[in-house]
Amino acid sequence: MKSNDKGIHLKIKNLKKAFGNVEVLKGINLNIPSGEFVAIVGKSGCGKSTLLRHIAGLEKESDGEIFQNSERLGSINKHARFMFQDARLLPWERVLENIGVGLGLKDNWKEQALLSLKQVHLEERASDWPSVLSGGQRQRVALARALATKPKLLLLDEPLGALDALTRIEMQELIETIWKEQQFTAVLVTHDVAEAITLADRVILIEDGQVSMDIRVTLPRPRERGGNAFGKLESKVLSQVMKKNQQPLLEDVTTV
Ligand SMILES: Nc1ncnc2c1ncn2[C@@H]1O[C@H](COP(=O)(O)OP(=O)(O)OP(=O)(O)O)[C@@H](O)[C@H]1O
Ligand SMILES: [Mg+2]
Repeated sequence: MKSNDKGIHLKIKNLKKAFGNVEVLKGINLNIPSGEFVAIVGKSGCGKSTLLRHIAGLEKESDGEIFQNSERLGSINKHARFMFQDARLLPWERVLENIGVGLGLKDNWKEQALLSLKQVHLEERASDWPSVLSGGQRQRVALARALATKPKLLLLDEPLGALDALTRIEMQELIETIWKEQQFTAVLVTHDVAEAITLADRVILIEDGQVSMDIRVTLPRPRERGGNAFGKLESKVLSQVMKKNQQPLLEDVTTV
């Protein structure tokens, strides 16, 4: 199992969260080694975003603990950056400044912001306003902003959900390329099982507030959709998501 110091090792122990008397997370246990790319799938409302917010330190757990490199997470997670379905750019700032915001607009922020913009192939749009960019370009700026500080943990909450199929595949390739280069830990929430299998080392299903499937994807990267092995894995995950298979599917991936 791979491990590095460019990412963060996450350990989630018996995490529970209730909103009022509704228990959303009912004891999540996860061990994510540094540098791993994990995808989380599950039906709408099952608690995926709630779990990500806990990992980001934005939510107080009802019970349980989260550890990062063996240190208990008690407040905002300084190692984590978020990317959402909408780019959430500041409309009154130009593209470069939007990335600079992630850097606190301090020191040599322009240089760093430009480097990040280059990574997403948008350097020529540095002085544009967000409003003149396409949806895909805005998401690339959001990715550059999230990565500008070289985070050890990238949290992706359906970041490609609003994009057309082709742009989506391009973005998946870009995310994979940058993840390979920077080797951060990545946790991606997605509704798209094919996307999960394309990008992740491991696919996790949350159901009824718990992890009901945890399987490793060992297909060589970059992964070609439509291949036999890819298709088999996709049907296996889909049948689990659609509950055609009632048995929990927890492969031995919990040890580091
Ligand atoms: N701040 C809150 N107060 C009360 N209930 C909340 C709060 N945040 C989330 N919930 C509830 O917790 C449940 C899980 O929400 P969450 O947003 O985590 O789901 P999700 O799996 O991300 O869904 P989707 O796929 O639709 O984004 C939902 O029933 C939601 O209404
Ligand atoms: Mg959500």
